Amino acid sequence: MPAKRPNNPARELLFGDLWEFDPAPETADPNIAPRYQLFINGKFTAPKSKKYFDSISPRNEAKVSEIAHAGDSDVNAAFEAATAAFPKWSKTPGAERGKYLYRIARLLQDRAREFAVAETIDGGKPIRESRDFDLPMSAAHFFYHAGWADKLDCAMPGRRLEPLGVAGQIIPWNFPLLMMAWKIAPALATGNTVVIKPAETTSVTAMKFASILQDAALPPGVVNIVTGARETGAAIVGHPAAAKIAFTGSTAVGKWIQRELAGSDKRLTLELGGKAANIVFEDAPIDQAVEGIVNGIFFNQGHVCCAGARLLVQESIASEILHKLKLRMRHLRVGDPLDKNTDIGAINSLAQLQKIRDLVQGGIRQGAEIFQTECRLPKKGFYFAPTLFSGVSSSHRIAQEEIFGPVLSILTFRTPEEAIEKANNTPYGLSAGVWTDKGSRILKMSAELKAGVVWANTYNKFDPASPFGGFKESGFGREGGKQGLLDYAKLA
Ligand code: NAI
Ligand code: MG
Repeated sequence: MPAKRPNNPARELLFGDLWEFDPAPETADPNIAPRYQLFINGKFTAPKSKKYFDSISPRNEAKVSEIAHAGDSDVNAAFEAATAAFPKWSKTPGAERGKYLYRIARLLQDRAREFAVAETIDGGKPIRESRDFDLPMSAAHFFYHAGWADKLDCAMPGRRLEPLGVAGQIIPWNFPLLMMAWKIAPALATGNTVVIKPAETTSVTAMKFASILQDAALPPGVVNIVTGARETGAAIVGHPAAAKIAFTGSTAVGKWIQRELAGSDKRLTLELGGKAANIVFEDAPIDQAVEGIVNGIFFNQGHVCCAGARLLVQESIASEILHKLKLRMRHLRVGDPLDKNTDIGAINSLAQLQKIRDLVQGGIRQGAEIFQTECRLPKKGFYFAPTLFSGVSSSHRIAQEEIFGPVLSILTFRTPEEAIEKANNTPYGLSAGVWTDKGSRILKMSAELKAGVVWANTYNKFDPASPFGGFKESGFGREGGKQGLLDYAKLA
């Protein structure tokens, strides 16, 4: 199909007429097996439960693969393998453990394109993001922690870091491979062994990753991967051999886990939801801020716990920001995540799409003003048009609850004090953004915002050396950096 070009390019800017692009599908082979078994003690193992479930692609609802459904006895077998592997692995010199982590990082780099395509097919995120963000960041986490493995004695002056034992880890579907890297790399660097469960809609890259562990010749039992849904996760949480539970996911499940573990001597870290404020002052570089707002909320369809979901804009520039934001949103390309030109891909699951729709309907009912870009969404698959709400007040549900979709709520403020008050007026505290020309204001805002990460004049920037984690109901514990190591170690 030839590209349709506007007759008058100036019109495009004024009225948002869009150029049509030819399709540019990514064609690398994702190398996805029709069926995946569990990965226990270094081997692909059929589940004793004999059950399997389908993983579908949110891009077109087609079946991607069959995934083993681990029952209690499978989870037991995984913990047995991890417990048996622990004594030797924990005594393996750090420099040797580091070599395995380096090898894993290099193998991930070698197969990055294949993994990126698989991630996009199974989970729905744009190939541009899985290729340019998820894969490089996953490798970076292994490289970073490989560097720590033989330097643990330097992490806390005068103290030694000793491993905890078997870490039970449960991860979500928004960054499947990356969350796996965030969990596994620090656990192995500090000498722990692992039983990990990916989310039920996104198990494919986890099982592909198992083959990388085999290629890296990681000793059997050091990492065990069990697939399944809620009951499999609950079996990990309740397993007596788990010395630590690390969970990333919804606040509701996080609270349940915290209650389950109350009174036990298991260590726990929780990385839960968020409802971050992205705060734009009148002296901010406006065009840069608009890009940051768009990146803050529309990155990964808004399936991001630290998404800048509440835009707090100073009243004097509110109409200018709103105008520029709408123009910019018209240029976002929504559709097939495998297309290299796609900015916003598929919503991860039908359940998540339904949740987004419900919350958006609630916003309309409560009287906020909705703007959605007119885009042709694919007929099959789960898609949602980029949406913003203006005229939102702090009491609206869309200002309080995590939507976890491409939906931005805009509130205004007059003074910095009001911005801080509104930003902190949420049960969450994972992240925030500040846009201003004044360095002193950045420092003041960062000190007063109850958020684990505050970005200044940028948004959604990550680095394995920088600890990530929450305040309040966003959870506790840190991932990344030296702080992240301490959550997998006892101090001796
Ligand atoms: P979820 O919390 O149910 O799922 C996350 C992981 O926990 C999955 O691996 C799931 O199988 C597992 N899980 C579920 N129940 C469990 C239990 N009782 N014990 C142990 N593991 C359990 O999240 P869900 O339902 O997929 O998404 C619901 C909402 O949660 C989203 O709309 C979003 O608001 C939030 N969420 C936040 C995430 C974050 O990164 N903080 C990630 C995913 C979801
Ligand atoms: Mg899937």
